[in-house]
Amino acid sequence: MKIAVLAGDGIGPEVVHEALRVLGALDLPGFSITEGEVGAAAWRKHGHPLPPQTLALAQQADAVLFGAVGDPACDGLERHLRPEQAILGLRAQLGLFANLRPATMFAGLEHLSALRPEIARAIDLLIVRELNGDVYFGDKGIRTLETGERQGWDMMAYSESEVRRIAHIGFRAAQGRKRRLTSVDKANVLETSQLWREVVTEVAREYPDVVLDHLYVDNAAMQLVRAPGAFDVIVTGNLFGDILSDQASMCVGSIGLLASASLGERQTDFGTFGLYEPIHGSAPDIAGQSKANPMAAILSAAMMLRHSFGREAEAARTERAVARALDDGVRGGDLGGSASTGAIGTAVIERL
Ligand code: IPM
Ligand code: MG
Repeated sequence: MKIAVLAGDGIGPEVVHEALRVLGALDLPGFSITEGEVGAAAWRKHGHPLPPQTLALAQQADAVLFGAVGDPACDGLERHLRPEQAILGLRAQLGLFANLRPATMFAGLEHLSALRPEIARAIDLLIVRELNGDVYFGDKGIRTLETGERQGWDMMAYSESEVRRIAHIGFRAAQGRKRRLTSVDKANVLETSQLWREVVTEVAREYPDVVLDHLYVDNAAMQLVRAPGAFDVIVTGNLFGDILSDQASMCVGSIGLLASASLGERQTDFGTFGLYEPIHGSAPDIAGQSKANPMAAILSAAMMLRHSFGREAEAARTERAVARALDDGVRGGDLGGSASTGAIGTAVIERL
């Protein structure tokens, strides 16, 4: 069971370190860990945020445990050299088209939500975000119009097969949960969304046990703060999923608690090849100060155990340990407490 560890920038290395300590404490046989460089760290050393040797390392692994990329010092670089290109490159090159972002309220943290506690309490949803298409990967550029004025443009496109495969992931996820799927689009304005809606509706015929509804993205954003507990699984495109998943994190209370899995089609001996990352970024303002909450990274490692290694029992055990630590009042700065990154890791390990 080969894990490629790409810790990256900012708080990435700190939080990944704790996730690895938790994995170590589970004492699973047969794991091997290889570290690689990614993001600004890789750019400084090799002149590229995703050097070929890092990509090769990820390709040869059964799973990638990822920290974060991003460094304000790189803001002035050409786009292809910016740290963010590393994660976009990995998603594209590894064919990771399905991004699972669960958002669940932890008991006792309701008061930390941006929403009223009685509304926040009910949050238990999963965002299934398409990750290989949309305006993210369409042609783009800045062109000069006849008037001499510059115009930025990004092509939004989804093919039927791209929509179909992510729709199947959404329906299957719903089957394992409360059997409700909400497809989010902007079909009242966008042709891309019109086709998206048609294809999702077609796929729904194969899942008569799942109740499907469609929401426009503006309405979905509104419902997500009005009644987040009404959602089970949300399936949506790359751009809308990016936005709604950050919004969902604030409904839960902290982006420091949200994990994610990015999955493709490749199967390993034990599950599906995937990349696992906390959805928070590199947080350069608190990097190196042991202030970051590693829980999202630890929960990402739990998702890795579940999806790539078929270790449901250990995944659930890890998730329960995080929930218990929270229940016992262990809080990082993101949750109004002062526990250090290492102390939070230790608290989780003690509760495994
Ligand atoms: C995310 C991030 C990335 C994205 C950035 C870093 C490119 O915001 O994973 O949500 O937009 O997908
Ligand atoms: Mg984002």
